[in-house]
Amino acid sequence: MRLDHIAYRVADRHKTAKFFQDALGYKLQQEFDIDFGEGQFVKCLALEPPENVIPKGPWVYHGEVIVGLFADPNEGYQDYHLAPEIFVSDGTPGSIVGNWVAARSGVGGIHHMAYQVDSVADTMKMWREKGYAEFTSEEPMRCPGLTQVFTKPSALTGVIYEFIERQEYGFCRDNVKALMESTAKL
Ligand SMILES: [Fe+2]
Repeated sequence: MRLDHIAYRVADRHKTAKFFQDALGYKLQQEFDIDFGEGQFVKCLALEPPENVIPKGPWVYHGEVIVGLFADPNEGYQDYHLAPEIFVSDGTPGSIVGNWVAARSGVGGIHHMAYQVDSVADTMKMWREKGYAEFTSEEPMRCPGLTQVFTKPSALTGVIYEFIERQEYGFCRDNVKALMESTAKL
């Protein structure tokens, strides 16, 4: 399983696509229009991530069928588009999560998307210099083996981005709490 795509609906597809290309290294793959008739159109730009899944990933493909693994699990690891983890939260009435869900018709939605980076500090520096987003804390949250930070909601997508730097798997409860507190007013 791997992350296949994340769909956004935005006001300006070209401006938003340029942001993703400049800030996160995506490449334009194709563009297409969908005609709903009676003058109604939806226009789409497809962007692909910078890493190659084939042939350098750990899976060996024949057509669309996985037929084996590389002998060395580290070979091509950086180029494999790993399946994202899913993190599901709810909250009691009046809590940070409870309020956020209540403000969205009680249904909630995507709160943030996490991108793994080589250095959270370097990424924060670059995003601040380029003006891509503001952050909810001055410094990254640090636990042993885990560094994280949240942006404020993007002016172009309305989504909060998390940058995460991992030396080990799993989550750190102190970081999760600090991250949630940093977004209490968003
Ligand atoms: Fe997260």
